[in-house]
This record gives sequence, C-alpha cells and structure tokens, in this order.
Amino acid sequence: MNQAVDSTHPDFWSSRYDTGKMPWDFGGVPAAVKSFLSRSSGPGRVLIPGCGSGYEVQPFHDAGYDVTAIDFSPAAVARATRVLGDLAKRVMLGNFFTRDFGPHRFDLIYERTFLCSLPPSRWPEYVSRMAALLSPGGRLVGIFLYGQEREPPPYPLRDNQAEQLFQTHLRLVRSDLVTDSLPLFRGMERWQEWIKQRDDAACGG
Ligand SMILES: C[S@@+](CC[C@H](N)C(=O)[O-])C[C@H]1O[C@@H](n2cnc3c(N)ncnc32)[C@H](O)[C@@H]1O
Repeated sequence: MNQAVDSTHPDFWSSRYDTGKMPWDFGGVPAAVKSFLSRSSGPGRVLIPGCGSGYEVQPFHDAGYDVTAIDFSPAAVARATRVLGDLAKRVMLGNFFTRDFGPHRFDLIYERTFLCSLPPSRWPEYVSRMAALLSPGGRLVGIFLYGQEREPPPYPLRDNQAEQLFQTHLRLVRSDLVTDSLPLFRGMERWQEWIKQRDDAACGG
C-alpha cells in the first residue's frame, strides 16, 4: 500500500503534521485529564503512546509521574519537542509495538486517539502490548472513541466491542462521557479506566 495512505506507517502522520492538517489535535489538555489527575497523582510511571503534540506530558509530570511519551512520526516528535520545552527529553521517536522500554512496567498508560488511529486488525496486538507493558493492577486510562465513521481513520469502537477486545487482560472500572470534545469527535468520546488483571488471571488461573 502507498505509505502516504497507510495509517500504520509514520509517513501517513508526518505528512499531516508537516501540512498542519491535524483535526484530532486538541491544542491543550482535555478536562478529563485534569479531573483524573486531581484524584490520582503520582508517583508512578506513565507511558503516552502515539503522543502527537504531547500536551499531556506536562500535567502528568506536574502531578508527580515519571512520564515517557513515544511517537513513530519524526514530525510529531519535532512538534512535541517544540511544545514541551524542558520536558522534550521525555519524548522518544519509536514504534510503540517494537520499542524496548526496559525491564520496568508502567503504572499508567494514557490513550487519546491512538487506538482509533490503528486499523481494527491491529487492535488485538494493541491490547496484548498494553497488557505486557502494564504492572499488575496498573491502568490503561484516557479518551476512547466510540461510534461509526464512514471514511476511517479514525476507527471508532462500537458499543461492547471494547469489552470483548480487552476482557482477556483488562477490566473496565470507569466510563464517563467527555464534555469538551472537538467538534469532529463530539458525543463520541468517553473517558475510560481499564485495570490490568493479575498476569495469571489473564491466563484463566
Ligand atoms: C491521531 S494521532 C493522535 C496524537 C495524540 N495522541 C493526540 O491525541 O493528539 C495518532 C498518533 O499516533 C502515532 N502512531 C501511530 N502508530 C504508531 C506506532 N505504532 N508507534 C508510535 N506512534 C504511532 C502517529 O504518528 C500519530 O502521531
């Protein structure tokens, strides 16, 4: 497939960052993130995959978390570097699925418009990667897109699809409608918190 039309390839995203065509870009920190951090501060290790402009790195850092963000588009990382100033060193260029993050797992992984940027054929890999990177009892938190889309990406989840997808490793413990969505996503975004089961629970033990 032409890499410029394949959302699993960094060029697809870089061409959009380079031309400023980023309809998903929130331009700041979503209210649901601020709300979460007011009730769940660090210490702990946080990963932000597919971080784009990286606006959320600063508030997680300010709340006491040790933040690592990753994006495989050089243009996204360049943009995050400009946005983040002194915290730019928290952002790495790399592929979420293959990067070696070292021996320590994460207490939190933050999601916004990363899952829905991936074709559904990659969703099982997303879930198993999340489970492998989270500590037992760790949480996948963030903003998930639900609904239908005629011309994906984005690829939204359908109701109940997420629970079927995640159930082997993660259990839903919170779900709230997002109130400050961009017009593009209005009524489709939910703040959700998924808790990682013990490793043996995932194996049915
Ligand atoms: C729709 S954008 C969302 C960016 C950011 N999360 C936000 O909310 O603004 C999807 C991002 O995921 C990145 N991405 C997609 N697949 C990736 C992968 N396998 N590894 C790292 N980054 C990836 C893209 O480069 C792009 O910046």
